[in-house]
Amino acid sequence: MTLLSARDVVARPGTSTALRGAWLEVRAGESVTLLGAPSSGTTTLLLCLAGLVRPVAGRVVLDGTDLAALRPQALAAVRLRELGLVFPDGDLLPELSLLENVELPLVRAGATGAEARSRAGDLLDRMLVGAGAGRLPHEVSAGQRQRAAVARALVHRPRVVLADEPTGNLDAPQAHAFMDLLVAATRDLGTALVVATRDAAVAAHTDRAVELRGGRVRTPEPALLP
Ligand SMILES: Nc1ncnc2c1ncn2[C@@H]1O[C@H](COP(=O)(O)OP(=O)(O)OP(=O)(O)O)[C@@H](O)[C@H]1O
Ligand SMILES: [Mg+2]
Repeated sequence: MTLLSARDVVARPGTSTALRGAWLEVRAGESVTLLGAPSSGTTTLLLCLAGLVRPVAGRVVLDGTDLAALRPQALAAVRLRELGLVFPDGDLLPELSLLENVELPLVRAGATGAEARSRAGDLLDRMLVGAGAGRLPHEVSAGQRQRAAVARALVHRPRVVLADEPTGNLDAPQAHAFMDLLVAATRDLGTALVVATRDAAVAAHTDRAVELRGGRVRTPEPALLP
C-alpha cells in the first residue's frame, strides 16, 4: 500500500528550480534511498515529502491526503503525528541531555513524564546510546548524536522517518554501523524510511534506491540496486 507519494512535483525553494517533475511512491514499512550528486534535488524532495517545502506544481500525498490542501495548523499536526525527521549532525537541543531530547516530542504530545522517560530510554538502548542518556549532545561523539536523533525521530511511533544526509558527518565504518541500526530500528517498528544522500554506500542498506538527476527521479540502474 502506498503511504507517501510525490506526483510530478515541481519545487523552487529558492530562485532556481530544484525539482522538475519528480515522482516517488513509498509503501508502508519500506526503506528507500534518494541518491544523487550534489544539487540533484534529494534534499528538496525530502523536504517536500515532509511538508516543509511546498511544491509549485504536482502533489505530495500522505495516506490519501494532499499536504498542500491542509491549513498550516493541520499540516503541523499531521507532521508531528506521522513523520519523524533526522537532519545532518543530529540537530539536538544543546542544553538538554540525550534522554531529554528524545522524550521531548512525547512530553509535548501530552505523555506523562514516566511514560515518556521509559519509552525514550528504550529507544536510546535500541540505538546503542543508552549509556550516554544523561550526557549533553556536545559530550558525546557525532555517531552517538546521530543515533540519539534517530531515537528522537522514532519515539512517537511515526509512520515515516525522513533522514537528510544522516551519515554526512560519519566516516565509512561509522556510516555502515549507523545505517544498519537505522534500518533495523525502523523495520522493527514497521516505520517507512526515506534517506536523502549523495553517499552511494547508504543505498546498499535500504530495500531500494532511486537516483535523482537534475530534479527528476531516474529509473534505477541495476548497479544502484542493493
Ligand atoms: N533554499 C534554497 N535557496 C536557493 N536555492 C536552493 C534552495 N534549496 C535548494 N536550492 C537549489 O536547488 C537545487 C537542488 O538542491 P538540493 O538541496 O535539493 O540538492 P541536493 O541533492 O540535496 O544536493 P546536496 O545536498 O548535495 O547539496 C540546487 O541547485 C540548490 O542550489
Ligand atoms: Mg542535500
